[in-house]
Amino acid sequence: MNLEQIGLLRCPRCRGALEGAGAPLEGVSCSCCGKEYRIERRALRLAGSAGDYTESFGRQWNRYDVARPAEDAAVFRVKTGVSALALAGQRVLDAGCGGGRYARLAAESGAHVIGIDLSRAVDKAAELCAPYPQALIVQADLLNLPVAQGAFDLVYSIGVLHHTPAPRVAFAQIARCVKPGGRLSVWLYRKNTPPQEWINSALRHLAGRLPPRVLENLCAGLAVLGGVPVLNKTLNKIVNFSNHPDWTLRVCDNFDWYAPPFQSHHTVDELKSWFHEEGFADIEELAPEKSGSVYDWAHHHNLIIGGGVNVTGARR
Ligand SMILES: C[S@@+](CC[C@H](N)C(=O)[O-])C[C@H]1O[C@@H](n2cnc3c(N)ncnc32)[C@H](O)[C@@H]1O
Repeated sequence: MNLEQIGLLRCPRCRGALEGAGAPLEGVSCSCCGKEYRIERRALRLAGSAGDYTESFGRQWNRYDVARPAEDAAVFRVKTGVSALALAGQRVLDAGCGGGRYARLAAESGAHVIGIDLSRAVDKAAELCAPYPQALIVQADLLNLPVAQGAFDLVYSIGVLHHTPAPRVAFAQIARCVKPGGRLSVWLYRKNTPPQEWINSALRHLAGRLPPRVLENLCAGLAVLGGVPVLNKTLNKIVNFSNHPDWTLRVCDNFDWYAPPFQSHHTVDELKSWFHEEGFADIEELAPEKSGSVYDWAHHHNLIIGGGVNVTGARR
């Protein structure tokens, strides 16, 4: 944990600057209101409480080991529009870092990365990033983002804002952290056709009433379906389940879909308009990682459940 990065953080209560205390660092305190914040299991805790709406994420990211370095590097390039290798020495904010697979990648490439997440997924992220002293993992709320304005060369948020109760507010919060000339890349769930949306809302409503252990077993059942050829490319256009080749990722993806209380779906025009409204230029839609004539057709007709809208832009 380094003090330079602590200098980019702000007190979530009064926006005062934070100062490190103790050697080795045991916590930080606000130079303005005096509030103290602890460092626990290598993550700085500025927010988060047991039982909040991100509980399921704490469970899934600590339970499933999903870091796959080669795949993570490819996904990162597609979803941010930037190769991690180009980030050496840059200030990077991972807004909603989950278990830290992309923060780890950025740090490994030499970026000075701050990974923020509201859930106890930060425990896993801090463990994954432990070998990289230039990575700082912080448990904090994107809806009250405790970081300095205009401080980052790159801010990215992969699959996060649609899980907050106020995605547009969270977008504005992360957008203001980008420095002039810096880049913001955001990936959100895509709005599907109305019948798909209705079926999904009904299924998620039912899933949300199940105890997590029961839901996990159902997600494992869906992961079995995800390995069945033909079915795993057709049936999942009606009922969503992952067809990732890796079993652990399939179960985790399924839980990630059905467990969280908030899940909103968006259009490309909507996300682009947010970039415009926050003063970004060079706004560009990023293409998905998969391609092929059938896939492209299904993507453009909004038929892929769990597909994304992915936009990047540069701050004026
Ligand atoms: C689907 S996960 C994505 C994690 C990571 N970006 C990845 O792709 O591996 C969404 C994450 O958003 C976090 N999240 C949801 N609401 C948040 C908020 N208000 N502030 C910070 N993180 C939040 C959750 O805790 C969760 O870890």
